[in-house]
Amino acid sequence: MLEQTIATHYREQFGSDPEILVRAPGRINLIGEHTDYNGGLVLPAAIDKAIWLAMGRRNDNLLEFKSFDLRDEYSGNLKSVSKSEKGWPNYLLGVISELKNDGVEITGVNVAFGGDIPIGAGLSSSAALESGMLSGLNQLFDLELSKMDIVKLAQRGENRFVGMNCGIMDMFASVMGRAESVVRIDCRSLEYEHFPFHATDYCFVLCDSGVKHALVDSEYNTRRRECEEGVQLLRPISPNIQTLRDVPLSVLLENRERLPPLVFQRCKYVVEEIERVLAACNALKNDDLKQLGELMNQTSEGLRHGYEVTCPETDFLVDKAMEQEAVIGSRQVGGGFGGCTLNLVMARESHHFIKNMEAEYQQQFDRRLVCHIVNLADGVEIMVG
Ligand code: GLA
Repeated sequence: MLEQTIATHYREQFGSDPEILVRAPGRINLIGEHTDYNGGLVLPAAIDKAIWLAMGRRNDNLLEFKSFDLRDEYSGNLKSVSKSEKGWPNYLLGVISELKNDGVEITGVNVAFGGDIPIGAGLSSSAALESGMLSGLNQLFDLELSKMDIVKLAQRGENRFVGMNCGIMDMFASVMGRAESVVRIDCRSLEYEHFPFHATDYCFVLCDSGVKHALVDSEYNTRRRECEEGVQLLRPISPNIQTLRDVPLSVLLENRERLPPLVFQRCKYVVEEIERVLAACNALKNDDLKQLGELMNQTSEGLRHGYEVTCPETDFLVDKAMEQEAVIGSRQVGGGFGGCTLNLVMARESHHFIKNMEAEYQQQFDRRLVCHIVNLADGVEIMVG
């Protein structure tokens, strides 16, 4: 079991038992891609792939991190938290830096961590690490942070310290997820609601293209800027327009001439995608998975041709998936330019589906495709050692 491996790693590295074990899950997103930073709606779920953190307090202000998967370590001091060239420690340091900015006192910590969320695959391993670290510190030092505090601090750590200008969806899903449910989040008001996902006949299969979304930061920021430009140009219509959330599709279409064609194309995708989240919730309420699959396919079209954040490998995976009768929905998941496709597949055909996809991918790209059947899981959980 993964948690035991991580706890053992802690013991070997630090010579004592961890005080707590934290499970911080990754996430998928059914509908609502690139809508969070537009004040829109999203519909993600935490999954049964997670990072485990074994943690214990220190009293000497030292920060000792051990990555089991990378066989790497980091040592630092609370008094001088600065960015590490190693990259991975920054997710942990970022949340510590934000706690410090808020005047929260801790006295040092040992952390050993590792997990089975594929990295750079669009499943939010970074948000899991941030949410898990904060939840663990909250427990160890009685910080009295609410779950919502943790979500917001994690996003701030990523935005300000790591330097990735992400929205709030990933950490929200990792913290607030619930087993066998998806969560609809209003990224403007931060209200949320869980919707049970009854998928007895269907399951979610992730196909990991293995293409790391290295381009994502710069292209992601470009998309954000294009959306902001759209808002700027539409604001003269009404001062109420603060984000694309405030723009109904009809208003956007009527005002097409105000926007450069590319900006219009991006905005149209976002506005339609926000509407699709509501439609997806209705589909879930009616247990209409075929409709949900259809909406996923519409998102897929939008990501590919409107927002243009896919890549040849994920396009290929979507096309091949849709050729199979057992598949009712398929699309790239997460920030884009690689990573996983999310497929809604007839459960009894899922192994057959995976075999076919592996063979097709190997033949086309001479590359191994790794697939995962995922279940929807609870958000961050803490076990006291
Ligand atoms: C990344 C970001 C999220 C969100 C998605 C796209 O995962 O971290 O905030 O914007 O991309 O939906």
